[in-house]
Amino acid sequence: MNTKPLRASVSRHAHFNAAHRLYVKTWTDAQNEAQFGPCSNPRYHGHNYELIVKLTGPIDPVTGYVYDLGTLSSLIKREVEARLDHRNLNEEVPEFFDRVPSAEFIAVAIWKWLRPHLPVHLDLHITLYETPRNFVEYDGAQ
Ligand code: NI
Repeated sequence: MNTKPLRASVSRHAHFNAAHRLYVKTWTDAQNEAQFGPCSNPRYHGHNYELIVKLTGPIDPVTGYVYDLGTLSSLIKREVEARLDHRNLNEEVPEFFDRVPSAEFIAVAIWKWLRPHLPVHLDLHITLYETPRNFVEYDGAQ
């Protein structure tokens, strides 16, 4: 009998709204507009972010679960939505006081907030949609 557990991925979809401005403080407004386009609007703008948190690991042979998705849902609410939903990312979220709140860096922040609360044997993969067509992925890579 094969005793090696089967592996699978489970995912939870979540959502938050947030405002941001992409800009480099030492650049002029014109330089920022050239680099970031409408995302550099000095008066900010919002996005409806869609988040997918994916966990990969062994299926527990007793429960049949990789991880309890209700628990994951609560974790996302507490660690991610409470920090980001209806926030101005530049002005209210310390991670972005000195870092551009790009979708890439938001995905990294989400990964860092969630990782300590999840079992070490599960791989954590973040997918973050900033618009329906633009999304980024982060899995802890350095
Ligand atoms: Ni934007």
